[in-house]
Formats: sequence, structure tokens, C-alpha cells
Amino acid sequence: MSVVPIHLLGSPVLKQTSEEVGEIDSAVRKLVDDLKDTMYAASGIGLAANQIGVTRRIAVVKTEEAVSLTLIDPVILSREGTDRGEEGCLSIPELYADIDRSTHIVVETTDLDGNRVRLDVADLRARAIQHEIDHLDGVLFLDHLSPLKRRLLLQKWKKLRKGKTGYIQEVSKHNSHV
Ligand code: NI
Repeated sequence: MSVVPIHLLGSPVLKQTSEEVGEIDSAVRKLVDDLKDTMYAASGIGLAANQIGVTRRIAVVKTEEAVSLTLIDPVILSREGTDRGEEGCLSIPELYADIDRSTHIVVETTDLDGNRVRLDVADLRARAIQHEIDHLDGVLFLDHLSPLKRRLLLQKWKKLRKGKTGYIQEVSKHNSHV
């Protein structure tokens, strides 16, 4: 188990579609542990594997509930309602935007015992899961914005990144994002 660096906007891995996991083995378990450790260290509420450089369909979510949730090959089976709410992302620190998401989803995922299970989730947890599944498809919250709003945020990102090189960052404990 370890806290690992996070890939930031600009790293090509964030735009890649991740591959199905299938069987749960020790490599998958280790990846889940690393994701959880890194998410907690970064005070995030969700983290997908490609954010730590691994293009497999695995993510973790920790919202208001006490127990974190592991998503492996997650698929959204149904959706209800829409709500607009503010999102951020551990890969795009200091940028936030209001994003429309389904308020209630049923998601099917593989648990760490290798069983397919269905979860009925709502509100912030549903939002976080949709955000993480987007990551597995190479989609960032910025991609949901209008071209104008997106351009403004990308300009802000350029300013934040001025003078910095590389797109892989050690975890800092200052902010809370998904
Ligand atoms: Ni994110």
C-alpha cells in the first residue's frame, strides 16, 4: 500500500479509454489499495486508476458514507433525475465548475471477491461515481462544459501551470477534489 503521484491535466493517460479488468488478482488488489491510500492522502472523494497512470477500469469513491467504494468494470444500468453541482478533480487542482449529473443511478460493478454486484446510489455518491466512470472513458469534467466556459478554465489552468514542468505531481494535502 502506498501513496503514489497523480497525473495532471496535460498527461495523455487522462484522455485514454481504460481496459476491462475481468479477473481479480493480486495486481488488482494492490492497485485498489494504492488508489485508496492516494485518495485519502489527497483528501479526494474519488480517484480513477488512469489518474495514477494505469489504464484499467478501476476507481475508488469516498463520499459522505464511512466506507469507501471500489468500482471495477463499472457500468451504469439506469439513471434518474438531473442535478447541477460543483465538481473539481484531483487531476485539475484549483479548477471547479458546475456540471449536470444524474441524481440517482444503478451501477453494476465487480467487487473484490470477483462478484458482479448492483449498487443503488444517489446524490453526491452518484455524482462521484459518474465522474469516475468518465475518467475510465478518458473524459474529464471540463469536457462537459460549453466551449466558452471550457476555454476560460483552460486559460486559468495555463496560468496556474506557468513555469511548471511535467504533469505528474506528488500528493499534497491541501484541497478536496474528486
Ligand atoms: Ni477526477
